[in-house]
Amino acid sequence: MTETIYLPEDFFLGAAASAWQTEGWKGKKEGQDSYMDAWYKENREVWHEGYGPAVATDFISRYEEDFSYMKEIGLNCYRTSLNWSRFLTDYENAVVDEDYAAYYSRMIDACIRNGVEPMICLEHYEVPQVLMERCGGWNSRHVVDLFVKYAAKAFERFGSRVKYWFAFNEPVVVQTRVYLDGLRWPFHQDSKVWMQWNYHKALATAAVMDAYKKSGMRRSGCKFGTIINVETVYPRTDSADDMNAADKYDLFYNRLFLDPAIRGAYEDGFFELLDRHGILMEYTPGDLALIKANPTDWVGINLYHPNRVKGRMNPIREGAPFHPCCYYEEFDMPGKRMNPFRGWEIYPKIVYDFAMRMKHEYGNKEWFIAENGMGVQNEGQYRDKQGMIQDDYRIDFFRQHLYWAVKAVEDGSNLKGYMNWAFTDNVSPMNAFKNRYGLVEIDLEHNRDRHLKKSALFFRDMIAQRSFSYENDTEYR
Ligand code: BG6
Repeated sequence: MTETIYLPEDFFLGAAASAWQTEGWKGKKEGQDSYMDAWYKENREVWHEGYGPAVATDFISRYEEDFSYMKEIGLNCYRTSLNWSRFLTDYENAVVDEDYAAYYSRMIDACIRNGVEPMICLEHYEVPQVLMERCGGWNSRHVVDLFVKYAAKAFERFGSRVKYWFAFNEPVVVQTRVYLDGLRWPFHQDSKVWMQWNYHKALATAAVMDAYKKSGMRRSGCKFGTIINVETVYPRTDSADDMNAADKYDLFYNRLFLDPAIRGAYEDGFFELLDRHGILMEYTPGDLALIKANPTDWVGINLYHPNRVKGRMNPIREGAPFHPCCYYEEFDMPGKRMNPFRGWEIYPKIVYDFAMRMKHEYGNKEWFIAENGMGVQNEGQYRDKQGMIQDDYRIDFFRQHLYWAVKAVEDGSNLKGYMNWAFTDNVSPMNAFKNRYGLVEIDLEHNRDRHLKKSALFFRDMIAQRSFSYENDTEYR
């Protein structure tokens, strides 16, 4: 049965990206590498086909073109990051790189001129490499102070034009891949360092919120938030063992950031649990008071796929470093629907389930979907005779996730909008251009030329009509 689904009033539709994944290194000065740049330079063999941040989509030279496409599609907003490592030349004293700041200022003007609201993230994995070398990056309390100084400069330069600021994109990711899982350069495992990074980023979110309030830039309508990749988790069964596995998974990957950002506090017993595992971080009562006093105005949530877990069947080896998987094992559910390219399960109801959690567990805080999308390899195979990629699979993916988003609003969740990852295809950590996510293709064979995909037209029509059609395919055959 085909239904027409109407978008709620004021529900925004946008697309996201980040600085390091799009801009390229044009104009980058000596000493301005981010952690991502350094990883790419030192360990290029793991980056798919050698692509990485060096050129990316060359957004730094081509943003006018990209914004003209956003205007054509009618997007309400565009989220990207300010690249901390490039915005400053001296991180201790927050000395601004005037060349990069001038580009950024022009870019924001172009965005607004095309009718698109800029949403700016202060860090999307772009911690300056110099700080990694000098003090271990976010392991150091000093980096929290430097981040606040950097944020204050950003507010000063762009705060009169940018209404929506975010501390981090996916604050859990870098340290989880590097220090917890030991999967990424520089291949140093240390679970306590992992926890210290998590904590310092939660603290930095509150400290920057505090700085924003004091900056004089938080005019009416402005909002400050952070963007959390919620790993929506489902237990295999309702047995106590499986439920406990899911609960701990949620605690160590989700509540770890949701709680301080929304409630202004970690849950009771969390620090004792960390202590039992030997990973309690250094903190002060003053820090906890700062976190308490500065919950964010709203949160952006990146939602891609569900995670399914069960209680542990196999014991953890004696002496192994702490890993949250001491409480769970992944559960490979029979019959799950897959995106075979990315290897992720597709389960659009994650949107509704998380929305109800926000409503019931997090005081119905305002939130939006900050990333959702479908990565597909070798998309060229879906090109039609006119040269347009016919990404109907992605359109279906959007429809199904948006269906649950609209239903969540109808059922009272304070969900404000939806952003696709990503506006154009771009480089991801390691996967580079392998999984294509864009509404707009980046043609690597031809000068990184831009071409709209069919999904861009779907977005355009949906925005114009404020509705989309949805195939409710629950018929038994
Ligand atoms: C998101 C990140 O979680 O996943 C992005 O915020 C990233 O930075 C995206 O590009 C897609 O990743 P991948 O590995 O599927 O290409």
